[in-house]
Amino acid sequence: MAGKLKIGVLASGRGSNLQAIIDAVEAGQVQAQLAVVISNKADAPALERARTHGAPALFLDPKPFAGRPDAREAYDRGVLDALRKHDVELVLLAGYMKIVTPVLIDAYRNRMMNIHPSLLPTFPGLEVQKKAIEWGVKISGCTVHFVTEGVDEGPIIIQAAVPVKDDDTPETLAARILIEEHRIFPRAVQLYAEGRLRVEGRRVVCTGASPAGGSLVVP
Ligand code: GRF
Repeated sequence: MAGKLKIGVLASGRGSNLQAIIDAVEAGQVQAQLAVVISNKADAPALERARTHGAPALFLDPKPFAGRPDAREAYDRGVLDALRKHDVELVLLAGYMKIVTPVLIDAYRNRMMNIHPSLLPTFPGLEVQKKAIEWGVKISGCTVHFVTEGVDEGPIIIQAAVPVKDDDTPETLAARILIEEHRIFPRAVQLYAEGRLRVEGRRVVCTGASPAGGSLVVP
């Protein structure tokens, strides 16, 4: 691969995972370059984080497509144009609150990652920390996976586990999980940058020796 891996981030909100990626890039822990950040929310703090880092930050408004039967696909064509214009090689969904369509999924198959705050395949979807507490699970965590047509269903790249405590609220559990999200997302990007992720069916095999890490982070 010539030059550094060009990453594009789609984010709708506060962008703490984006920040973790930026910090890891700036620290030289991730051999990548933030090529563009795109948001469907004009006031997403993620956009400001990108600008502070010196990366292009784009707000793409979904409203003009509202009511069209192909609203989501039409929006994604605009996103795809922007990603291509910035030569993006790997797309990261970092708190992106829109379901992506095959327009993006096909163009970036096995080149688009999502971070999710549960140990998939348990608790896909929304409000998953609340669901984990309601179910009384004793261990939760987070997952980075490649994006496929099924929401939160794609091949799993990396996971980290955290304990669920008896007195946890969705907020305290989310905060504990978020710390691990900020560790594993940059790590997944670096594994990709090193060419070490091989998709075999619905599994991802990580080639080469895994660097020593916390016992609850795999790989
Ligand atoms: C994270 O918990 C992520 O796992 C989920 O949305 C949240 C985004 O947080 N998909 P942030 O915007 O990265 O701070």
